[in-house]
Order: sequence, then C-alpha cells, then structure tokens
Amino acid sequence: MQKIAIAIDGYSSTGKSTLAKQLAKALTYKYIDTGAMYRAITLFAMRNGFIGNGRESLEALVKLLPNITLNFVPNEELGFSEMYLNGENVEKDIRTLEVSKYVSRIAEIGQVRHMLVEMQKEMGKEKGIVMDGRDIGTVVFPDAELKVFMTASPQARATRRYKELLDRGEQVSYQEVLENVQKRDYIDSHREFSPLRKAEDAIEFDNSDMGLVEQFDRLHSIALRCLEKVT
Ligand code: DC
Repeated sequence: MQKIAIAIDGYSSTGKSTLAKQLAKALTYKYIDTGAMYRAITLFAMRNGFIGNGRESLEALVKLLPNITLNFVPNEELGFSEMYLNGENVEKDIRTLEVSKYVSRIAEIGQVRHMLVEMQKEMGKEKGIVMDGRDIGTVVFPDAELKVFMTASPQARATRRYKELLDRGEQVSYQEVLENVQKRDYIDSHREFSPLRKAEDAIEFDNSDMGLVEQFDRLHSIALRCLEKVT
C-alpha cells in the first residue's frame, strides 16, 4: 500500500502529540515530535548559559549549532521514540515549564529553524510518517497528503498542560501555565520565520470539547479515506 505523509500543526498543548502518536501506531508509521527538537536545542542553550537567568547570547549559540546532535531513539517498552541530545536521553528534561518558557525564543532563530527543517525533511523522504509541530504543513511537507490544524481554547489547553505538569511533580500555578500558553501562541504566530498558520489545504480540528477517543476516531477515518484516494 502506498504511504503518505501526515502533517499535524497547531497551537501549543492542543494534544497534537497524543493524536499523532496514536495515528502513527494505527497506521504503523513513524512518529516525529518536532517540538522535542526545538526543546532539546533550548535545553542545550540553557545548560550552556546562552539563555535563561537574565542572560541571552544567541549568536554564540548559533555558532555552536553544528556541534549539536539530535536523535530520536525508539524505546520499545514505552512504544515511542525519545529525544537524545548529544547522546544523552533528555526526554524528561525538555518537558519542564522552564524549557517551555524559553523555547519560543529559540524557535524564532532562522538558523535553528533551517537546521531542524532540513533534518525533518530528510526524516520524511520515504513518507509513512506522522509529524507534528507548527510549520509542518506549510514549510516542512507542503505536499503532505493530509494536513491537520489543531485548535482549542487557551483555557482548555492550559488546563490539560497544568494537569500534565502536576502529574510530573512540577510546582506550578494554573495562571503561570495559562500565561505561558498565551505567550507562546503570540510568539509562535508572530515570528518572522515560518510563523504558525493554518495551511490553506489543512483540515481545521477544534478539540476543546472532544475526548481522546472521539478525536482519534475522527482523524483515523479521515486518514483512511485519504489513503484510499492515493492508492
Ligand atoms: O509542540 P511543543 O509545545 O513541544 O513545541 C515547543 C515549541 O517549539 C513551541 O512553542 C514552538 C516551537 N516549535 C516550532 O516553532 N516549530 C515546530 N515545528 C515545532 C515546535
């Protein structure tokens, strides 16, 4: 059967990753979380003093980009791949609110985007991939056979994210999480390079009032119809 590329874009904490993972599993496709790549570069920048604690020296970070290696390593037990930064598993470290606070600044840098977009295009060369992010349908795979743009109210998204962070043992307030969600929405959709926007041919999917099962069922049948068309 012919394979397709599925691009899932949208605002932060709309549940893109959960949906993309489920879909990839159902179709036995590769799943790539591009946010993890921007987060890993952010972690590198924070650890090396290029951003955070009132400091910012992004030019120095850009010079070091060629020294950064990022890999998705499959974890058979968990059933998905984990992000490795220069050989170290950083899957947990990249999901903190601290990293979320700085990641949009890093994702604005043209050289960072260029490097990651090239890697992402390479990963999708053979199709059979579900990739989620902000610019997948517009920049990374403009020819993807299926494009989805996910939205939900900022409050619905902040509530989900807040629960997730509490479950992971982070000490955060709901207000702090809501502000981070709104700030990232603004920066992600107003940046100079590939701002977040819906591709013209993307299907818009508002899941504010939708459960996980319903959203998966809907998207899965859309994907199956799309596959029927191309084969
Ligand atoms: O999906 P996420 O919340 O883990 O993404 C983290 C940040 O990375 C998000 O605020 C914007 C940025 N990002 C991006 O600019 N382009 C992508 N393709 C993926 C993420």
